[in-house]
Amino acid sequence: MAVRSPLRIAYAFRLALIGLAAQAACGGKGTPVVPLDRESLLDPDACQSCHPTAYREWSGSMHAYASEDPVFRAMNARAQKETDGALGTFCVKCHAPMAVQTGMTPDGLNLDTLPKKMKGVTCYFCHAVESVTDTHNNPLKLAEDDSLFGPFSDPVASTPHKGIYSRLLDSATVESASMCGACHDIQNLQGAHVERTFEEWGKTRFSQPPNGLTCASSGCHMKATTGPASTISTNKTLTLHAHAFPAVDLAVTDFPEKDTQRAQAQALLADLIQPTLCYNTLTQKMDLTLENVTAGHSFPSGATPDRRAWIELTAYSGDTVTYSTGGAAAMPLENSADPDLWLMRDCLFDGAGTELKMFWQATTAQGNAVPGSVIQDFNNPKTFNQSHPKWSFPQGAGLPGMPDRVNLKIHLQAIGDDVLKDLVDTGYLDASIPPLIARYELGGASSFDWTPATSSPKNDPDTRAALLCIVKPIAFRTNTWPADSNAHCKLKPPDPSP
Ligand code: HEC
Ligand code: HEC
Ligand code: HEC
Ligand code: HEC
Repeated sequence: MAVRSPLRIAYAFRLALIGLAAQAACGGKGTPVVPLDRESLLDPDACQSCHPTAYREWSGSMHAYASEDPVFRAMNARAQKETDGALGTFCVKCHAPMAVQTGMTPDGLNLDTLPKKMKGVTCYFCHAVESVTDTHNNPLKLAEDDSLFGPFSDPVASTPHKGIYSRLLDSATVESASMCGACHDIQNLQGAHVERTFEEWGKTRFSQPPNGLTCASSGCHMKATTGPASTISTNKTLTLHAHAFPAVDLAVTDFPEKDTQRAQAQALLADLIQPTLCYNTLTQKMDLTLENVTAGHSFPSGATPDRRAWIELTAYSGDTVTYSTGGAAAMPLENSADPDLWLMRDCLFDGAGTELKMFWQATTAQGNAVPGSVIQDFNNPKTFNQSHPKWSFPQGAGLPGMPDRVNLKIHLQAIGDDVLKDLVDTGYLDASIPPLIARYELGGASSFDWTPATSSPKNDPDTRAALLCIVKPIAFRTNTWPADSNAHCKLKPPDPSP
C-alpha cells in the first residue's frame, strides 16, 4: 500500500513527520505516510508514541518481564547445564521469541548482551502471528511481509504500518485462544505436559461457541475499554484492550507498573473460587467444597509444577484455637507433617516414579487443581462433579465439638519455597529473591468466616446428615467429588476418564 522511504531517516525525525502527516490527515485525503521500517516494527519503543496506553501496560506485563525474570534466568541456566545444552532454544522460544526468530540466541544464556527489543514477548511477536500450527510449545508462524494483524479491518489511511484484521487477534473468536494457547501449554523435552492452561480451557464451557470466552476476553486477561486506537486517529472511537495481562506472577526486581500489576492480579483472583464451608453435625467435621467460578481454566493453572495453592483453616472456641491446618505449622508444604493439608500443585516424577522438583526434568506431571466450569455431560457426571472437590477437616476423628468460629484462607503462591530453595542452594538464584515471589490470599484476609449464627441449615446429599453451611457468594453445591491432596507425591495410575 504505502511506499517505503528509501532514506534512512533518524527515528525521532520520522516520528515527527508522521505526527505532522497525521495532523494533515484529519479530514484530508492522500496523506503521505512514512511506513515504519522493519527495525522499528520489531521495537516496542517505536510503538509508544502512537499507542502510549498499550505500551505502558505491556511494559509492566509478564510478557515484557518473561526473559528478565530472575527465576526464569536461573532455571534456564540450570536446565542448560543439566541437559548439556540439549535444551537449546526450548525455554527462550517462548520467553524471548524474537531473539530466537532472529537467530540472536541459541540458548538464552546471552540475554544480557541482546538489545531490549529482543527480550520478552514483544508487540511484534503477537501482532505478526499469521498462523497457528499446533497446540503447545509455541508453534506460531509469523508473517514475513511486515504485516501487523489486529482486531480491526479498516485502519485509518495514515497508519504507518500494515493493519490487517485477523481472527487470531480478535478475542471475540475461538481462534484467538489458539494463538495465546500455543505458548500457554508446554510439553517438556520428555513429553510431560507441564503447563496445560490451553488444554484446560478447552474442557470448560468457555471454549464453546457461540457464547464462549477466550483468554483475551474483557472479563479475563485483556480488559476492554473504548477510545481511539492511536494518538493519530483521535476522531475514531473503537473497543480497546488492556495489555497488562495480569494473573499470578509479579516482577521481583525493579520493573514498571509493579503496584498496578499486583492490584490487578489480586482483583482477578479475589472472587475466583466459591467456597462452601459446612459443619457436619454427624461427623463433627468441617466439609469444604471449592468451585472454580471465574477462571476459564483450572485453579491453579499455568506453571502448576511451581504453583502452590492450599487451604488454611482455623477453628476457635472463644479465642482459643481448637483446630488448625495449613498454617505456619504446615510448613514446609511439600511432604508436610500436617496430616490434613489440602495442597494443590503438580507432582513431578521421572521414568522410575521418583519424585522430582524441576519441571524440565519430569517424565510425568500429575496435578490436582480445581477444574474450570466444565461442559456438562450428563452421560459422564464425573467430569461435572470433579469441578466441585470436597475435603473434610480433620481427615481423621472429628472435632471436639461445634466451633464458635472457623476462619478459611485460600492461599496461592506463584512458586513453591522448595523449588526456590533448590535454585538458591545450587547457586543459580540469589537468596534475596524467594521472599519477593508473589503470594496471595484469595478474597482477602477475613472474608471467609464461618459461625453457627451466620450459617444456614442444609442436608448432606449423600448421608442426609444435618449441615450448617456458609456459601460465598451463592450456590450450595451438592454434586461434589472427593478431593485429592498433593501434599505428598505418589505416582498414580493414569486417569482413564476423558
Ligand atoms: C505513527 C503512529 C503509529 C506508530 C508508531 C505505530 N502505530 Fe499502530 N496504529 C496506528 C494507527 C493510526 C492505527 C489505526 C487506528 C485506527 O484505525 O483507528 C494503528 C493500528 C494498530 C493496530 C491494529 C491493527 C488492526 O488492523 O487491527 C495494531 C495491532 C498496531 N497498530 C500495532 C502497532 C505496533 C506493534 C507498533 C510498533 C511496532 C505500532 N502499531 C506503531 C499508528 C501507529
Ligand atoms: C510467545 C509465547 C506467548 C504468547 C503468544 C502469549 N503468551 Fe502469555 N506469557 C508467555 C510467557 C513466557 C509468560 C510468562 C512470563 C513470566 O511469568 O515469566 C506469559 C505470561 C502471561 C500471563 C501472566 C501469567 C501469570 O501467571 O502471571 C498472562 C495472563 C498471559 N500471558 C496471557 C496471554 C494472552 C491472553 C495471550 C494471547 C493474547 C498470550 N498470553 C500470548 C508467553 C506467551
Ligand atoms: C501477548 C500478545 C500481545 C502482545 C505482546 C501485544 N498485543 Fe496488542 N493485542 C493483542 C490482542 C490479542 C489484541 C486484540 C484483543 C481483542 O480484539 O480482543 C491486541 C490489540 C491491540 C491493538 C488494537 C487496539 C486494542 O487495544 O484492541 C493495538 C493498537 C495493539 N494491540 C498494540 C500493541 C502494542 C503497541 C504492543 C506492545 C507495546 C502490543 N500490542 C503487545 C495481543 C498482544
Ligand atoms: C510453550 C512456551 C513456554 C516454554 C517452552 C517455556 N515456558 Fe516458561 N512460561 C510460559 C508461560 C506461558 C508462563 C506463564 C504461566 C502462567 O500462566 O502462569 C511461563 C512461566 C514461567 C516462569 C514463571 C512462573 C513460575 O512459576 O515458574 C518461569 C520461571 C518459567 N516459565 C521458566 C521456564 C523455563 C526454565 C523453561 C524451559 C525449561 C520454560 N519456562 C519454557 C511459557 C513457556
